[in-house]
Amino acid sequence: MNNNNAFDLFFNANSLGFLLILLISSCSSNDITDGPYFGNGFHNGWADQHSIVIWTRLTLRPEMNLGGQQFIPLTQEQHSKLRNCRNRDSIHLAQIPDSLTLDDMEGACPGATGEVKLKYYPMIDPGVTIETPWEKVDPDKNYTMQWKLEGLEANTRYQVDIYAREDANHGISDTVSGTFITPPDEEMVRETRFCIVTCHDFNRRDDSIMGHKIYPSMLATVPDFYVHTGDIEYYDMHNPRAMTEEMMRFKWDRLFALPFQRQFFTEVTTYFMKDDHDALCNDVFPGMQYGTVTFERGLEIFDREQFPSNPEPYKTIRWGKDLQIWLMEGRNFRSQNHLPDGPGKTIWGEEQKRWLFRTLEASDATFKLIISPTPILGPDRDNKNDNHSNQNFSYEGEEIRQFVDQFENVFLCNGDRHWQYVTHREGTNLWEFSCGAGSDVHAGGWKQTDLRPEHRFLRVKGGFLAGKVTRLEEKVLLTFQHCDVDGRIVHEEHFETEY
Ligand SMILES: [Fe+2]
Repeated sequence: MNNNNAFDLFFNANSLGFLLILLISSCSSNDITDGPYFGNGFHNGWADQHSIVIWTRLTLRPEMNLGGQQFIPLTQEQHSKLRNCRNRDSIHLAQIPDSLTLDDMEGACPGATGEVKLKYYPMIDPGVTIETPWEKVDPDKNYTMQWKLEGLEANTRYQVDIYAREDANHGISDTVSGTFITPPDEEMVRETRFCIVTCHDFNRRDDSIMGHKIYPSMLATVPDFYVHTGDIEYYDMHNPRAMTEEMMRFKWDRLFALPFQRQFFTEVTTYFMKDDHDALCNDVFPGMQYGTVTFERGLEIFDREQFPSNPEPYKTIRWGKDLQIWLMEGRNFRSQNHLPDGPGKTIWGEEQKRWLFRTLEASDATFKLIISPTPILGPDRDNKNDNHSNQNFSYEGEEIRQFVDQFENVFLCNGDRHWQYVTHREGTNLWEFSCGAGSDVHAGGWKQTDLRPEHRFLRVKGGFLAGKVTRLEEKVLLTFQHCDVDGRIVHEEHFETEY
């Protein structure tokens, strides 16, 4: 059996089995269930050697309502008008059919009140289990809960078991379990594998029941960690155009109820970044508002509610002796896109930029990855005005490119663009790897025939970027592999250095 058939069989078997479960659960979706449940599983975030943040949410039902009703599509004219409307009811009435509510719509996974408790322990030593007290989820934060686990051991796989109950008078109603691994410390030599993705949403999933195929494909590569560079969901795309907080939450609840996603996030150490579509809307900058939601509130929903939180929305993490990554934040600190370019105009903000330059200079990791939601090298389309490779941010873009060019073995990895590429400027140390959109139907925005001198690789299709750092004889090797949605390698680049 070739790989292709094995994958097809895997997807079909998964989809059929899950379809049966869904049919059973959607038949009873209006019945009173016990619950609460973990319909969104759990996520982790911001892991370093000694800490991680765990996020979960309680739901009314164990699964989303895939058999729900359809939203009313808006015309471009209606969308343009409503995005300036500050009335929640007008926005909802225009998209939700009469007499229905958001909970009746396709994919709804409403939240539920209740209590949660978490147990965790290193898998090699279940005897040292730590258990948190029962705590209520926060209905004002979409029925979510977060724990920061501290005092962890480096390079250790931990088991996580989370329990749900309605209250102290009820028994356990649901459990969810999974694992994560902490990064090795700066002295440790260990092969490290990772995956980087961008741009996908519920509408453009390539398995209508299970979610996005890249998730099982990435799991098959056994990554130590995964980075989502943002545009995890699209508030401003149809079905529905999420111009209220309730609709934004609806979109998260639906996306994270997808089985492929849910399975992946219980097994892999994960870093979530955000970009314009999951901060508020296309090419967003401070001062903008989308329907009833302000820019500040958009950041808060992402940074403080729907994803594991960190005091700062950026971080650098050492993954052993041979790898260090920097996760850059591209929305919170940026200037308004339309301002004239020049000194002071910024995407990263002065503080974050100085922090990057300082920590990059201080790092003795063999290979260093700067992971940015948006491109730094490009090329990008001439009509874009939102990132460091565009003309209107070229002052800061050039400052960053000149700084990075001083170093060998520093690589740029980016999301945002819906095509895969590797670019290298001849005569410089500058390399950029664009992971490309998360499904084939989501790919586009560049012509496959438009190959520029700096392109080493160009593919206008969906997939992900996989990477591996390893040692062989006297050398440290870094491999980047662009993969299609089924995990087949479509391009490889190798870098090596002596140690
Ligand atoms: Fe995107």
